[in-house]
Amino acid sequence: MGKKVEQENLPSVVMPSCEMRKILAGQKALATGANSGIGKTVAIALGQAGADVVVNYVTNPGQAEEVVAKIRESGVKAYAHQADVSQEDQVKAMFARMCEEFGTIDIMVNNAGLQRDAKLEEMTLRQWDTVIGVNLTGQFLCAREAVREFKRRGVRPEISCAAGKIICISSVHEVIPWAGHVNYAASKGGVMLMMKSIAQEVAPHRIRVNSVCPGAIRTPINTAAWSTAEAYASLMQLVPYKRIGEPEDIGRVVAWLASDEADYITGASIFVDGGMTLYPGFATGG
Ligand code: BGC
Repeated sequence: MGKKVEQENLPSVVMPSCEMRKILAGQKALATGANSGIGKTVAIALGQAGADVVVNYVTNPGQAEEVVAKIRESGVKAYAHQADVSQEDQVKAMFARMCEEFGTIDIMVNNAGLQRDAKLEEMTLRQWDTVIGVNLTGQFLCAREAVREFKRRGVRPEISCAAGKIICISSVHEVIPWAGHVNYAASKGGVMLMMKSIAQEVAPHRIRVNSVCPGAIRTPINTAAWSTAEAYASLMQLVPYKRIGEPEDIGRVVAWLASDEADYITGASIFVDGGMTLYPGFATGG
């Protein structure tokens, strides 16, 4: 089971999938920005693990429908919902529809995110606002609506030990500073303390809140970092494990973190980065 991935100068690997173990059976999940990249693979992994899934997207409905079709192959329900997570009214409408169609929500995956890169002195306020709006405010708005529903409904022991789970897709850049990307790094640094503060606040209600922090994953957001041999070689200097991450590396961890197997984990940032946060420059120096 799983997808075969060719590795540069290394044996190819088969990515395991969540297909065999229905660790999320009966749960209702919402994944934002799920028509491409990490979000797409996360949404599919949640479906493979047995959850019904709402596929949120902003642009490209065709892509979202393809993800929906792929999720349904696992025998679960899915539908696509267009909403800009930075807009309060659209987020509220998305939750209202989900509660109508699926009855409730058990798993919120805050994935929608974007980059608008520029050197500081060239960065426009619009570039700053767009990134903070989607990556940080969007995660706040979705987390708030999810917590409202989790608390209204409470724990259903036959479904999960927890009243609800929120998983924020953050980044290694919640701790690694990133020149030329101050808006993005600020948004992810914000996600870190927002996530931990929410986790502390809602833990007594049996709601778990965690982040998954990807390193360099092969997706459209960072094509320039891996699509040529030179770029890939230079990227590998930052990755001790010497391979780029695949979206499945993230999808699997998110599905597991949302499951009761991870029931005692809350307020944690889980780095899935091939060691990018291990200060690779110090492997030979210092
Ligand atoms: C960014 C990617 C980058 C990776 C590692 C991610 O959060 O979106 O563009 O390749 O971090 O630097």
